[in-house]
Amino acid sequence: MNKTVICPGSFDPVTLGHLDIIKRASKMFGKVYIAVLVNSSKTPSFSIEERIELLSDAVKGLDNVEIVSFEGLLAEYCRQHGVDAIVKGLRAVSDFDYEFQMAMANKKINPELETIFLTADSDSMYLSSSMVREIGSMGGDISNFVPECVHDRIVKKLKKN
Ligand code: COA
Repeated sequence: MNKTVICPGSFDPVTLGHLDIIKRASKMFGKVYIAVLVNSSKTPSFSIEERIELLSDAVKGLDNVEIVSFEGLLAEYCRQHGVDAIVKGLRAVSDFDYEFQMAMANKKINPELETIFLTADSDSMYLSSSMVREIGSMGGDISNFVPECVHDRIVKKLKKN
């Protein structure tokens, strides 16, 4: 489909769940932006630069994927950059209310903008970045949760925190 979509998030850090959604979006759409953003309600463990670096390695080889980062409203960025839709993963019913609210708000700001939800794959249903941070910072094994190529860097950083 010759559409441009955007996968926004904190990616603090990138997980296999994020990568699953990004890979599937890159097969379905012509161009996929990954937007590494500040979620004002969260205190990140990884800097924006670190998150971008990890993501860049994780998505190597996906030629239609580009990583961006910006301040300001997502819906405005989409208007300015010709983005047709936001793509997000839905893990469980518990994600729905929050995601629905964000989708409505984004559509109010930019009525042309759609939000498309992909169901998370069964291995990622329970996965989140905060879970990875917690297990990693306590010395637990996170190899089933994060892309192999960035595993060691994530482990090293989480041990330091
Ligand atoms: N696999 C694994 N984890 C997943 C996942 C998947 N498929 N889908 C979501 N998650 C997890 C993430 O890891 C993250 O976990 P955490 O809370 O433990 O860190 C969480 O679900 C999603 O949080 P986040 O990445 O912060 O994204 P969000 O859905 O809360 O949206 C922004 C945050 C940055 C996209 C949003 O705040 C935004 O658009 N900001 C820009 C300013 C703006 O326009 N504001 C108005 C919004 S209406």
